[in-house]
Amino acid sequence: MKQRTALIAGASGLVGGECLKRLLASDAYSMVTIVTRRSLGGAAEHPHARELIVDFEDLDSVRTELRADHVFCALGTTIRKAGSQARFRQVDFEYPRHLAELALANGAQHFSLVSALGASSKSGVFYSRVKGELEDVLRGMEWPSLCLLRPSVIAGDRKESRPIERLTERLLRFAPGTWRSVPAAQIAAAMVATARSAPQGVTIIESGAIAAAAGSALGAS
Ligand SMILES: NC(=O)c1ccc[n+]([C@@H]2O[C@H](COP(=O)([O-])OP(=O)(O)OC[C@H]3O[C@@H](n4cnc5c(N)ncnc54)[C@H](OP(=O)(O)O)[C@@H]3O)[C@@H](O)[C@H]2O)c1
Repeated sequence: MKQRTALIAGASGLVGGECLKRLLASDAYSMVTIVTRRSLGGAAEHPHARELIVDFEDLDSVRTELRADHVFCALGTTIRKAGSQARFRQVDFEYPRHLAELALANGAQHFSLVSALGASSKSGVFYSRVKGELEDVLRGMEWPSLCLLRPSVIAGDRKESRPIERLTERLLRFAPGTWRSVPAAQIAAAMVATARSAPQGVTIIESGAIAAAAGSALGAS
């Protein structure tokens, strides 16, 4: 199989960290570029990893280095952490949009985004609207292959304390498929599995379908 190159943003986060593990363990990728604002330490010492440390406000300064076949984006913040809706939008919309634009211009073929359940540019909920607007702008770029994953609340071992999110995640473990919380590892497995076939056009993976998309890739590390 022809080996490809990957680029990941958000690798210090919950889903991004799981995704990075899988990319580095996969025989499908010869090199993984980790675009990050701070060093990941150990993970970046892998022989197939290359760390690109940059302030995301200044992505243009590394534009020629944002080059890979497949791009994985798990960037994000919370409104509380960001401090304002405008700042949240900067991280959850502007940074991914800019990254996608630069990577596509450099010849990337597949873009995989961790979006969110209910993402819609017409939503009355600010968070869902920002996610939907990002999805729309990515579609408009006409990626050869675009994968939008829309998880419900994400489950996993988060270092940061988010008590309300954690409680919601626990309650939603037993909810119907559409709402059920989704393990970060499952989302990451679905991202990497979908990238393997990189289906043409837009693939939307709703929350309840993420487990199936992860399929046998889950458990493979
Ligand atoms: N949490 C949920 O239940 C949930 C549900 C549905 C969808 N989502 C979406 O899924 C995506 C991934 O979620 P997650 O929980 O894995 O995220 P996470 O653990 O909070 O990780 C977020 C990543 O974004 C990076 N980031 C945040 N602010 C940044 C900034 N100003 N500049 C550069 N990088 C920045 C973080 O880097 P640092 O480590 O340097 O901060 C980290 O790598 C997000 O878009 C989120 O909105 C989340």
